[in-house]
Amino acid sequence: MGATGREMHIRPYEPADLDDLYRICLLTGDEGADASDQFDDPNLLGHFWAAPYAVHEPDLAWVLADGPGGGGGVVGYVLGTRDSVAFAGWMDSQWLPALRRQYPLPPAGDRSRDAAMIRMIHRGYTAPQFADDYPAHLHIDLLPAAQRHGHGRELMTTLLERLRTLRVPGVHLGVGRGNTGAIAFYQRLGFQLLHEHPWGLELGLRLGPAGPTEQAR
Ligand SMILES: CC(C)(COP(=O)(O)OP(=O)(O)OC[C@H]1O[C@@H](n2cnc3c(N)ncnc32)[C@H](O)[C@@H]1OP(=O)(O)O)[C@@H](O)C(=O)NCCC(=O)NCCS
Repeated sequence: MGATGREMHIRPYEPADLDDLYRICLLTGDEGADASDQFDDPNLLGHFWAAPYAVHEPDLAWVLADGPGGGGGVVGYVLGTRDSVAFAGWMDSQWLPALRRQYPLPPAGDRSRDAAMIRMIHRGYTAPQFADDYPAHLHIDLLPAAQRHGHGRELMTTLLERLRTLRVPGVHLGVGRGNTGAIAFYQRLGFQLLHEHPWGLELGLRLGPAGPTEQAR
């Protein structure tokens, strides 16, 4: 039983969880806050930031489930890819073509959040240069009721341990500049600044076989 007063339990992702990934991605999609009222299409965020990871590498995806034994609803996830360059290739050849057909490019004057995400789907994902040293990347999102009880750290530890087992030398992630809570969380786990963008920060963690740095307190 966690400090929420409710049992929460990490388990491997299953294909039946896919809709929950879409839901949680939207509910945390505005720099950690609910983005539901910013999108007409509730799936656009999840199409890019959540679903492809679980479909491409389900062995690097875990969910946090509520209720006794974790049998209740999904309230969080961590999703990763071990090789961002390979992931970029798979996105471009396998995942994004169907979405590009489903969502034609919007007119240039369309400044909506939907239009911005559709443009991103058409641009595609490119791995950053530092992917040589930090080949993996990840996404983690927990609903508010699950936050600040240690579950985020537990989910991260689960993923980072698997990446170490796979001998992946480093992992990176992106976080919005305004998401100060998540930035504090990643810093607490040992992530360091790799690159600053107008939209936010890219952080990285080296994954040596030695001590579990993500458990440093
Ligand atoms: C960011 C997030 C993943 C953190 O998970 P969490 O379960 O809330 O964090 P934990 O309780 O495991 O905290 C782990 C450590 O980080 C610190 N931390 C977590 N959130 C923090 C915050 N908002 N401010 C300061 N420190 C924070 C905790 O104090 C804790 O430190 P300790 O273990 O040394 O005591 C989670 O809050 C979340 O999903 N937020 C909304 C979605 C989001 O922003 N995702 C990231 C997008 S880039």
